[in-house]
Amino acid sequence: MSPALLTRAPREAALLAVGEHRSAHELTNADLAARLDTSDEWIRRRTGIRTRRVAAPEESIVAMGVNAGAKALATAGVDPASVDLVILATCTAARPIPGLAPQVAEQLGARGAGAFDVNGGCAGFCYSLAMAADTVRAGSAETVLVVASERLTDWVDADDRSMVVLFGDGAGAAVVGAADVAASRAGTGAVGGPVGIGPVAWGHDGANAPVIEIREQFLQMQGTAVFRWATTSLVPVARRACELAGIEPADLAALVPHQANLRILESMARSLGAPDAVLARDVVDNGNTSAASVPLALARLVGSGEVESGDLALLFGFGAGLTYAGQVVRIP
Ligand code: UT7
Repeated sequence: MSPALLTRAPREAALLAVGEHRSAHELTNADLAARLDTSDEWIRRRTGIRTRRVAAPEESIVAMGVNAGAKALATAGVDPASVDLVILATCTAARPIPGLAPQVAEQLGARGAGAFDVNGGCAGFCYSLAMAADTVRAGSAETVLVVASERLTDWVDADDRSMVVLFGDGAGAAVVGAADVAASRAGTGAVGGPVGIGPVAWGHDGANAPVIEIREQFLQMQGTAVFRWATTSLVPVARRACELAGIEPADLAALVPHQANLRILESMARSLGAPDAVLARDVVDNGNTSAASVPLALARLVGSGEVESGDLALLFGFGAGLTYAGQVVRIP
């Protein structure tokens, strides 16, 4: 590293754009109720979910990630060849080796980029976003593409009514760059603002790893234990992410928690004290897509106009590991 880099002032990092991939194939509550001992009423009351997306065989983790990543780069106006680093968050790859980020980078045309996978369970996107932001701040990269892509349905027993109702497939992506670049693209000094991507609040509960795990080929979860953990222990961590960003929860325009279950999301939102914030509800027609759920939910809020450029949003992931991570971001 050159002496100039060692002495250079750190740059603030910001989101430049988001992208998404949603499969066209839906699996509705009625489809499930037609072949399992369950009902639309039970699923909606316990989870809020109406339908979920199931990826076709050709919609691989790489293919979905490439599509979401390409959309995010196009929206950001970033040439893939100029991307310095591609991070892929996934916990549903069919094989541990090779990691899939290099294939995502290759297919996008990000040929000079570093590329690695992150398995942070359902918090994987927020962990990866933290890495991306810190990489930009440190000067190791100018532009980072964070992709989260998951095929949960490959790991769920289609006859297990307690699990199959919850999960879906999909991918989301975000482009991270320097805040001054984001501000000049938006024609304003405000986009980087006091918070481009705030410091991450994160942690783990490795002692409770067996609460969510793949056993005998299929995903198993002690749902009630996860529910209790998410609605009690994690709210202080979400508050901590706000503190680290130097804001109050009441300053948030949007809450984008991991889309596990609508009841969990509504409980977290009530406890956090952000009465005016829009709560992301992508879970209702996308199910739980693990690491992909936060960027998918964020992309929907941006695309629907429910949040505006410059708004502050809290992203918060939690799940298998157990892991959790959250940060405040300014909407690009
Ligand atoms: O992404 C990682 C993070 N994951 C989460 O955050 C998930 C957190 N947990 C949850 O969302 C909830 O615990 C679930 C939605 C998974 C389950 O809801 P619950 O209110 O905790 O239900 P339960 O597991 O205590 O099951 C209640 C009853 C059981 O019957 P019995 O034993 O009382 O006779 C289940 O067998 O509901 C039964 N049940 C179902 N009934 C109809 C379980 N699944 C179904 C179903 N349809 N699909």
